[in-house]
Amino acid sequence: MIPQIHNTLLNAGKFFQFTRNMSKVVKSLKYSKHGEPVEVIELVEDQLKNPKEYEVLVKVLAAPINPADINTIQGKYPVKPTFPAVGGNECVAEVISVGKNVSKLTTGQHVIPFTTGLGTWTTHAIFAEEDLMPVSNKIGLAEAATLTVNPCTAYRMLKDFVELSPGDCVIQNGANSAVGQAVHQLCKSWDIKSVGIVRNRPDIAELKKYLKSLGATEVLTEEEIRASTMFKEKQLPRPRLAFNCVGGKSATEISRHLADKGVMVTYGGMSREPVVASTAALIFKDIAFHGFWMTRWSKENYNSSQRTHMFSELCDLIEQGKFVAPVHEMVPLQKFKDAVAAALDFKGFAGKKFILDMQN
Ligand SMILES: NC(=O)c1ccc[n+]([C@@H]2O[C@H](COP(=O)([O-])OP(=O)(O)OC[C@H]3O[C@@H](n4cnc5c(N)ncnc54)[C@H](OP(=O)(O)O)[C@@H]3O)[C@@H](O)[C@H]2O)c1
Repeated sequence: MIPQIHNTLLNAGKFFQFTRNMSKVVKSLKYSKHGEPVEVIELVEDQLKNPKEYEVLVKVLAAPINPADINTIQGKYPVKPTFPAVGGNECVAEVISVGKNVSKLTTGQHVIPFTTGLGTWTTHAIFAEEDLMPVSNKIGLAEAATLTVNPCTAYRMLKDFVELSPGDCVIQNGANSAVGQAVHQLCKSWDIKSVGIVRNRPDIAELKKYLKSLGATEVLTEEEIRASTMFKEKQLPRPRLAFNCVGGKSATEISRHLADKGVMVTYGGMSREPVVASTAALIFKDIAFHGFWMTRWSKENYNSSQRTHMFSELCDLIEQGKFVAPVHEMVPLQKFKDAVAAALDFKGFAGKKFILDMQN
């Protein structure tokens, strides 16, 4: 038999076997209007369909809850979904069956989204083959499920604004965020010093220890960095690059420590306060202030070699045990309201990323 026909029959056979063996119900977290996620999201059941020619049926294994997912549901994010919408942008899924013209994916493979806005908070989904990227099944579920947003953001911000050399230094606030944890780990792999700023908390010693174990050179609270002379006294070189996901005083403070002609990249606004650039920083130190949005970068570099190279480098680091998922808690799908409420807590200090375990 021609191998292609054989594969098609094999895949079709696997699909029918799969549908016979499982419930044909798909459970998804859907919303039909913007609002507070705990109020507008519902667990909805639909019938499972067959994938068309270029489509893939996947079983979603794990899908994180990111701040952008919450903001999208609230209607406060620039990406507006079509209603009814399934929440979530990231996941790791297993290929269950493929349409007859699918050529690059096979059953049993693990895949992650190659594009945003797919709606990943679901037990099963049918996606276009071109919207998925295979990842090694050796990569842990938490690492794979959280790969496309935060590690990529950290990677691009470290690569695209300042040409850093080994021994250079970067500074960041929100240093315990998922992006922050990724920055520390990439800096360690690339021999760059990273200084992390976090808000003070009762378990601060434990947090500092953890971030240093990931690769942070120094971790200071917002109060400590204000009084610190570590750059003035040359204990560390002045940072050439700063990352800001907080805004307000925290952003102004980290920009104050930048070297002349340094760059501050703002990628989030967790405090909801604006970024204030000091006049002296702009005039006398020639500090540049930039923004970064991963969604835009991915659209503009969709099929670029840079993007392929980034994913392969990140996957290699994960497989080598040099890059781990952010501190997280796996939450069964049934408990999605608790997870969303915890992720929404604007007082902060959640201390972990919530990842929906879609098969429990
Ligand atoms: N531009 C992009 O492309 C892009 C990509 C990825 C992420 N982001 C943004 O980056 C930020 C972090 O995302 P993530 O997924 O890494 O977040 P995360 O893991 O959920 O961590 C949230 C971080 O925000 C801090 N935080 C929360 N509320 C705060 C407040 N009121 N004031 C100061 N800090 C506060 C937390 O610190 P505590 O522990 O002190 O609460 C923690 O460090 C978000 O704003 C997200 O939207 C942007």
